[in-house]
Amino acid sequence: ATNRTFTMIKPDGVENGHIGAILEKISASGFRIVALKMTQMTTADAEAFYAVHNERPFFGELVEFMTRGPIVAAILEKDNAVEDFRTLIGATNPADAAEGTIRKLYATSMGENAVHGSDSDENAAIESAFHFSGREQF
Ligand code: CMP
Repeated sequence: ATNRTFTMIKPDGVENGHIGAILEKISASGFRIVALKMTQMTTADAEAFYAVHNERPFFGELVEFMTRGPIVAAILEKDNAVEDFRTLIGATNPADAAEGTIRKLYATSMGENAVHGSDSDENAAIESAFHFSGREQF
């Protein structure tokens, strides 16, 4: 799955009405959407998904935020997907994100930063399997 990555439009992106614009930007940037759903993470889901961050001071805030409303989860296919998608979304903190990136355009803060992008091929596969069964991936 080296040509695939996993993304979520986070609750702030959904609340602020940016689902369409973000999916359009993803498609226009050469990513093929091979799985897509709107869903809401439970507290247990978010704690498991972000387990790597469970010692961080912002962990509670992160779980609270990620469960407060629906998200849009997707799997994206493109050559060099993980790296190219992280370039497209921009820095974690929108104040540091490059012009034209999804976070520069749509994120509001370091915590509420509109989108997720997997940070490695290994995590892309783990995160994709967390949200999608085999039958939901095309
Ligand atoms: P992301 O990199 O997608 O996954 C981890 C998330 O934790 C990150 O996006 C932010 O939403 C959140 N995060 C990272 N650093 C902080 C911070 N200092 N304060 C609040 N949230 C943070």
